Amino acid sequence: MTSTVITFLSLYFSIFPGIETLCDGRQDGAQCYGALGGTVVLQLMDNASEIFRYQWYKNKTLKILDGRKDKIVYNLMKDRSVFTPSNGTFRINDLIRTDRAEYTLQIFDSNGHVSEQRTLQLSIQAPVSSVLLDSECLSQGEMRVSCSSEGGDSPQYSWTLDGHTLTDAQLLSGNNETNIITLKQDVSGLLVCSVRNHVSNVSKEEKIPTCGETEHN
Ligand SMILES: *[C@@H]1O[C@H](CO)[C@@H](O)[C@H](O)[C@H]1NC(C)=O
Ligand SMILES: *[C@@H]1O[C@H](CO)[C@@H](O)[C@H](O)[C@H]1NC(C)=O
Ligand SMILES: *[C@@H]1O[C@H](CO)[C@@H](O)[C@H](O)[C@H]1NC(C)=O
Ligand SMILES: *[C@@H]1O[C@H](CO)[C@@H](O)[C@H](O)[C@H]1NC(C)=O
Ligand SMILES: *[C@@H]1O[C@H](CO)[C@@H](O)[C@H](O)[C@H]1NC(C)=O
Repeated sequence: MTSTVITFLSLYFSIFPGIETLCDGRQDGAQCYGALGGTVVLQLMDNASEIFRYQWYKNKTLKILDGRKDKIVYNLMKDRSVFTPSNGTFRINDLIRTDRAEYTLQIFDSNGHVSEQRTLQLSIQAPVSSVLLDSECLSQGEMRVSCSSEGGDSPQYSWTLDGHTLTDAQLLSGNNETNIITLKQDVSGLLVCSVRNHVSNVSKEEKIPTCGETEHN
């Protein structure tokens, strides 16, 4: 059994910290994601300048924002957020775990009645910070490759070989979404493992020879 550690190139598709995500909260029930330590820009409504009064609540009970047309009467999170009435966006910086909640927007007409109400769910995820690939030749010339990641919440794995999704014909075990795969004998090429969650996408690539060729290493 030969163990090989092959030099690899890494490609980072996300930068940590400072990840900014956008979410359209104008549809009721929107699911939004923000990166821990990053920024989320929530589109709560269109131009608020024509809206008589609006209030935004966290978990239905905690009032975060109160506005009348283009005047912001109150913003509980003003030290790390900005609401822009002219385009209806609420920008929250330095996201923390406890920002995770259901948020409700209430729009009032000039009689003080709620004319519209919608909610959005905000989830906070730590971004994937690094990805490692480890490969090992097995006795029959198969290669076992494991992909591991650090930092990220709910990591999802995917693989490509020479730019194409791995096929059953190339795999002895695992599939294109497991973090450990075994490649059949004589399978070689540029292998890429991508690890993503809703706020980040990091991948690592490695040129893999067949295990037969590495016997003499
Ligand atoms: C928002 O509406 C106000 C009032 O009608 C208007 O003056 C302003 O230009 C609008 N802003 C945008 C970005 O459409
Ligand atoms: C809304 O306005 C703010 C402040 O001018 C700006 O930074 C942001 O890019 C705008 N967002 C959209 C979606 O237009
Ligand atoms: C809001 O609800 C979420 C999810 O149920 C919970 O984790 C969080 O602590 C609540 N926040 C507040 C301010 O009640
Ligand atoms: C994995 O393969 C299945 C079946 O071919 C496909 O439906 C799925 O989208 C693939 N997943 C990824 C992450 O490429
Ligand atoms: C992650 O990055 C890879 C490489 O750029 C890309 O092919 C893939 O579509 C991205 N996935 C997501 C979910 O953004």
